[in-house]
Amino acid sequence: MSINYSEKIPNNVDLSNNKTLQRALEHWQPGFLNWWSEMGPDDSTNFDVYLRTAVSVEPKGWAHFDYVKMKDYRWGIFLAPAEPERKINFGEHMGQPAWQEVPGEYRSTLRRIIVTQGDTEPASVEQQRHLGLTCPSLYDLRNLFQVNVEEGRHLWAMVYLLHAHFGRDGREEGEALLARRSGDADNPRILTAFNEKTPDWLSFFMFTFITDRDGKFQLAALAESGFDPLSRTCRFMLTEEAHHMFVGESGIARIIQRTCDAMIEHKTEDAAKLRGLGVIDLPTLQKYLNFHYSVTSDLYGSEISSNAASAYANGIKGRFEETKLTDDHKLHGSEYPYMEVVGSQIVVKHAPALTALNERLRDDWVADVQSGVNRWNRIPEKAGIAFRFTLPHKGFHRRIGLFTEHHISPDGRILSEAEWTRSHAAWLPTEEDRAYVCSLMGRVAEHGKFANWIAPPARGINNQPADYEYVRFN
Ligand SMILES: [Fe+2]
Ligand SMILES: [Fe+2]
Repeated sequence: MSINYSEKIPNNVDLSNNKTLQRALEHWQPGFLNWWSEMGPDDSTNFDVYLRTAVSVEPKGWAHFDYVKMKDYRWGIFLAPAEPERKINFGEHMGQPAWQEVPGEYRSTLRRIIVTQGDTEPASVEQQRHLGLTCPSLYDLRNLFQVNVEEGRHLWAMVYLLHAHFGRDGREEGEALLARRSGDADNPRILTAFNEKTPDWLSFFMFTFITDRDGKFQLAALAESGFDPLSRTCRFMLTEEAHHMFVGESGIARIIQRTCDAMIEHKTEDAAKLRGLGVIDLPTLQKYLNFHYSVTSDLYGSEISSNAASAYANGIKGRFEETKLTDDHKLHGSEYPYMEVVGSQIVVKHAPALTALNERLRDDWVADVQSGVNRWNRIPEKAGIAFRFTLPHKGFHRRIGLFTEHHISPDGRILSEAEWTRSHAAWLPTEEDRAYVCSLMGRVAEHGKFANWIAPPARGINNQPADYEYVRFN
């Protein structure tokens, strides 16, 4: 089914046949547009940007590429096609028909989950809103805007669920989603990682590589939900999310490439010399990786969680690729490993698998992040440079869960307060590192040009060349 863009709210949910819902969403729409003009990408409203817009939800050919004025972008409501006779695939309701309406007893849990997911979408737009002013190229500027408009669409996706299935409470939550602000002292976004700043493009690429990947795993777990509209919404969001992670992974790869090229050309590994050449030394990239990895790891919550257990047992939130797993899908009697500090050691313990579902989803994410890091490592390897990126220990720099009270080094040693104070500047970006990275951020908006600290991409968007005019300023 292709999507009709002549409607006020483009959709594939037959909105014109549900007048009450249509009116409620049309009532919310101006507030969204106000939020976008206030908190969306800075100073971008008149640009023509080569963007992709969803025109169908079919796996092949769902997206259409063309120049769109940022202020005229059409945010719509798109759900993946319904699977006929879909069943609940895990938990105590396994085998029963998937719910088309919210079961009364799970209403507040589902609402909390949808609001928490929904809140991250506008939050990231707010975090990234100034980045356009320091873009390293038109190609990158276009990718930033693509990510931003789609995060805006993801907010629509969640607000649709709130309006369609949660009545007045849902409409109030929809308003609150437009009222919170990333980093605001009085009315912040819900999750800590979404109140951090994204002050420069290195942070942006790390964020889209690591934190959007948390989005992938959360959405994948919700795509398994017994609540069918949530499942269908998340399935379509996942197709968009893939591009966000690509932007991050390829962005960092291009920075690594540029640095390695400079190291070879000038025969140096010296960070100060490399900084003198205006590139980002590899140890600094590692520190940013450590920071974003640890902050994002906290988004999975506590290793042991009774909330996670009941969301699973009740059929609300599944595991990553639940239906591909071959066990009882109830986790009766099974266990899962997790780590904890006992005395002066980090030990592996086992918990009932049901209560360890946060840890399991975190592990799925870790494996996925690790494969991206392995791909990055091929760049210095090919260049004959010994440096390799590594992921820090799971307990490193954690603020949530069993490691909160401890200082753990990236290689997994338990540190005293004094040791941590002495060493953390080697592991996390310092003020000086951040100031250096920020000092590189100058706007490169000339057709076909790239900033000095990043290599051009191997190829462009939608088979266009890398030096295509992705953004036209008016
Ligand atoms: Fe998103
Ligand atoms: Fe995303």
